[in-house]
Amino acid sequence: MKNIYSFWGKRPFLYSLSCVITFLGREEVLRKKAVENLKLRKGDTVIDIACGTGLNFPYLHNAVGNGGKIIGVDYSREMLYSAGNRIKQKGWENVVLKHMNAAEMSLDTLFLEHEVDGILSTLGISAIPDHKQALAKAVEMLKYKGTLVILDAKPFPETSLLRFFNPLIKYIYKQWANWNYEKDIIETLEKLAGKVDITEYNSGTIYIATVIKS
Ligand SMILES: C[S@@+](CC[C@H](N)C(=O)[O-])C[C@H]1O[C@@H](n2cnc3c(N)ncnc32)[C@H](O)[C@@H]1O
Repeated sequence: MKNIYSFWGKRPFLYSLSCVITFLGREEVLRKKAVENLKLRKGDTVIDIACGTGLNFPYLHNAVGNGGKIIGVDYSREMLYSAGNRIKQKGWENVVLKHMNAAEMSLDTLFLEHEVDGILSTLGISAIPDHKQALAKAVEMLKYKGTLVILDAKPFPETSLLRFFNPLIKYIYKQWANWNYEKDIIETLEKLAGKVDITEYNSGTIYIATVIKS
């Protein structure tokens, strides 16, 4: 499955274009909203799980400032290579990238001394094979009262006229993004961290789940 992301990582422009479609043209608004939900402050430390080409970094950087720290984790070297180019181009000195399986994250493997203030994953958890372990590791690394935000995608609801596109959408995103919308992401989060607040966007095809570790 890494091969899929090797393909996208070598074609960051095409990947960005695919995001325009996934977010139905509302990418900026929705990425911004996900980052806002983290309630980060200047100087905070935040992890972006399955960060891909780093499309969340501008919003995260804006939130934590030059004095904060952003750690991008991804298991595709090619996606990280593109993320690295973005970091260089912007001249950010407080964004570090870690090449690793999200299911193996820990404070030790990420060289962190303290639990972090916030954790974000956008379109990531539904693509991670061992998503339960990745979520467990994320919650473990989050400080008490820290915030975890998951932005992910779902097919059109059964009430939508556009539901007829679902078979095609499921097929394409499975093949080209390893997307599995049937994962029990919310239930797992609730068991691990506490009450999850969910807001849906784009006719129910995008949701943002926010949980404060309790
Ligand atoms: C659809 S992309 C999302 C990228 C980015 N978060 C975004 O919003 O554009 C999914 C990402 O998950 C990464 N990924 C999949 N399984 C992973 C795993 N087990 N550990 C770390 N990253 C993983 C892929 O390499 C890819 O970059």
